[in-house]
Amino acid sequence: MLYGKNKLQLNDTDRERMRAACRFNAQLMDFIRPEVQAGVTTEHLDRLIHQYTLDHGHIPAPLGYQGYPKSCCTSVNEVICHGIPDKYTLREGDIVNVDCTTIVNGWHGDSSETFIIGEATPVARQVTQCSFDCLYLAIAALEPNCRISVIGEAIVQAAKERGFSVVHEYVGHGLGRQFHQDPSIPHYPHAAARRERLAPGVCFTIEPMINEGVRLTVLDQSDNWTVRTKDGKLSAQFEHTILMTETGPEILTQTEHGPRPGHKF
Ligand code: MF3
Ligand code: CO
Ligand code: CO
Repeated sequence: MLYGKNKLQLNDTDRERMRAACRFNAQLMDFIRPEVQAGVTTEHLDRLIHQYTLDHGHIPAPLGYQGYPKSCCTSVNEVICHGIPDKYTLREGDIVNVDCTTIVNGWHGDSSETFIIGEATPVARQVTQCSFDCLYLAIAALEPNCRISVIGEAIVQAAKERGFSVVHEYVGHGLGRQFHQDPSIPHYPHAAARRERLAPGVCFTIEPMINEGVRLTVLDQSDNWTVRTKDGKLSAQFEHTILMTETGPEILTQTEHGPRPGHKF
């Protein structure tokens, strides 16, 4: 379907469909937030997310996506992203990112938060805080028809100032009827992102992965999904789905219960 000259620009009807999908995904995050605690397995969180989604008549997008086996991603400590829920029991001092994506009437909503389990080390808090602040600094840099590169510029600057690094290999993405589509949203300065602009009606995620140590990643060869830091140090991530409108960015996956800009971890 073509809308104007850019096929990624949604009309008003489809914007409402995206809002509804993202509203549900945000409600799902509200549901899971209090369950993320010491003593629960990541598999338990996955079952809760799966059941809540089905109970509301929707579809967990990760399940079966390119062969992915679960309904969400749970990325603990040195896991950067795409951690597969399993028998691991969360414990005091862990940080865990829970990434949920839902298909609501054919449209995708995608968001994630990093949770600190009990008392964590100062650096665990700092890297979590940094990824959260990077997400909102990037959103603050958005304007109608801005270059995509304003996102990566804001994120790399903030991460550098705090002595942390930004993952390159995994990026934000357009979404709508598809889970992952154009445009690609790198969280670091990239030549193609300097040429491309975010027109009103374009929907995309920002999901910076911030590492305590080196930015380099290692893909787990046994499951082909789990991505870890090369140096085994911590990584944290937050994600929102955003709609660019004629007046500026609209955060579609935020609710009044989730952490807001200025939140201190
Ligand atoms: N939710 C992730 C993202 O933000 C993608 C997970 S793909 C999966 O893009 F297959 F692992 F679920
Ligand atoms: Co995403
Ligand atoms: Co996601």
